[in-house]
Amino acid sequence: MQDAYLERINKGEETFSSEGLAAILREIFVIGSESESVMMRWAIRLLSCYPIVQKKIQEEIDTVVGKGKEVSWDMRSKLPYTMAVLKEIQRFADIAPTGLLHKTVCDVSLGGFELPQGTLVMANLSACHRDPKYWTKPDQFYPEHFLKDGALVEDKPGFLPYGVGKRMCPGATLADMQIFLMISNILTEFKLTLPEGDKGDVGTQFKAGTAVLRNPKPYRIVINSRE
Ligand code: HEM
Repeated sequence: MQDAYLERINKGEETFSSEGLAAILREIFVIGSESESVMMRWAIRLLSCYPIVQKKIQEEIDTVVGKGKEVSWDMRSKLPYTMAVLKEIQRFADIAPTGLLHKTVCDVSLGGFELPQGTLVMANLSACHRDPKYWTKPDQFYPEHFLKDGALVEDKPGFLPYGVGKRMCPGATLADMQIFLMISNILTEFKLTLPEGDKGDVGTQFKAGTAVLRNPKPYRIVINSRE
């Protein structure tokens, strides 16, 4: 991407500049690392609060991949339960409730509304992730939302963690890969538990400073070797 952009700058194309390239690269680093870090914090909290779910992932990985063996991305199709849990973490965590702001570049008619050029538009992704029309238990963490007869349901209507359309997250595949590799390989080696006195409530941190991303409440975690 960087090379393609530099080529355009060198050709002198309008709207391509070294400042623009710097801004895009900065955005990719900031958006990419922050969203991944928030998602991992939700994943670790949820797995430590749901030991049965954690155990089922470990049993699946032990059976399919082998105890203590490294899990690789190409094994995902053989790990439907693990994949369903990761999707449910994304739905439940709903880390980007409104996506990013967009602006109409011309007058638009949408779902019976007239949006003049220059209107700021936000998607209500949260509404999709909590809609009882799509989810049996919208407000609960329930990996079975993504399973049917033991198989993974890949495309669920209402599941839009990365937004939708032309401007949906360009890092979606990378993010899916990262969360899968990190969580599955952590769980092959370690058991995540709650510290004493932690009742396992799962909640959002509403304090200022968390920008557009929904963070979990701060928590502590106990990590033990499975051996
Ligand atoms: C779990 C992780 C992630 C989630 C849930 C997520 C979600 C999103 C969402 C909802 C949007 C806005 C889409 C819209 O408003 O239409 C977005 C945009 C974006 N994401 Fe991600 N993202 C994640 C990880 C990443 C990673 C790893 C990268 C890059 C390495 C990345 C780069 C971007 C960029 C550059 C945009 C702006 C795209 C544009 O303006 O056209 N994201 N992401």
